[in-house]
Amino acid sequence: MADIGKKLDGNVDGEFFVDSTCQNMDICRQLAPDNFIYWQDYAVVGKQPADDKERRQALHAVLCCPYGSIGTTNKAGLEDAMQDFPLPIDNEVYFCGFNSPKTSGGNSYFVQHKGGNWLFNTPKFQAQLVKKLESMGGVSYIFISHRDDAGESEKFAAHFKAQRIIHRHEVEAQPHAEIVLSETEGYEYRPDFFIIPSPGHTEGHMMMLYKNKYLFSGDSLYYDRKESRIEIWNPLWTWYSYEEQTMSMEKLLGREFEWLLPVHGQRVRLEKAEMKKQLQDAIDRAWNLPDPEAATPLRVKILEQYAGELKSVNQPEYAKLIQAKADWLRTLIK
Ligand SMILES: [Fe+2]
Repeated sequence: MADIGKKLDGNVDGEFFVDSTCQNMDICRQLAPDNFIYWQDYAVVGKQPADDKERRQALHAVLCCPYGSIGTTNKAGLEDAMQDFPLPIDNEVYFCGFNSPKTSGGNSYFVQHKGGNWLFNTPKFQAQLVKKLESMGGVSYIFISHRDDAGESEKFAAHFKAQRIIHRHEVEAQPHAEIVLSETEGYEYRPDFFIIPSPGHTEGHMMMLYKNKYLFSGDSLYYDRKESRIEIWNPLWTWYSYEEQTMSMEKLLGREFEWLLPVHGQRVRLEKAEMKKQLQDAIDRAWNLPDPEAATPLRVKILEQYAGELKSVNQPEYAKLIQAKADWLRTLIK
């Protein structure tokens, strides 16, 4: 829970507040959009909850902030709010909540399916959530979109005797994964579940299209609230190849979906035709970016930070590769 002594100045007075440990990962603005706003490089409370619905959403934000940066002076209802997770999104698709610092606060999702339930990336291994998932039939498969989001997959896999699915290029993040894929083209993995290998953000990045309706997009595509449009992942955070990422997005044009469910960033539901139009526009913008992977001090700094993070999560081989890329780019800076 956040420390009121570190409360950010941008908060309005009242029971909820954000402290200076905030990493601006956006989950609070997604969960309680009427109450949390951007302020400098942080999120803050822009308006205190005005009714029960808003208060419940603010409590959800308290529970899902990966860094525990949101506090409240009144914990009434917090235990009850915990029971709401996983939060229903649409039909049998749920938002897990309890975003983990081990995935940089990534969103994870749960699908209840007659052929076995799925987790799409992982939340914190949180006791109440685990119990709830047990009551919903447990977990059979854990889909790991890419190496950054392995999080606590191992714990979930051990607890539920679930099978972790990861691409071979990402296996350093989960060396004991039960299912390691090598495919480069999309294919139906199980009825209703269509895997789309999508190199770009990382080499072995994968998306999952469920029932031709729900796209679990990993770190490749999200909804940009400020621009009110879907957007391709920023080249600054594209570790492998922005060009390949754009080509991967082109592959998606041949598929249909109406829900975009990203790891980082806002989810959205759009009509299929509108989704396709916005995807095409995003691809056009991506191809028109002048030199998206240009050698700049900022890009080098971000790559070095990422290399440090990789070392801390025991991925030394990829850390070496990223560090080498940073070193090479530094030599190109004019
Ligand atoms: Fe990532």
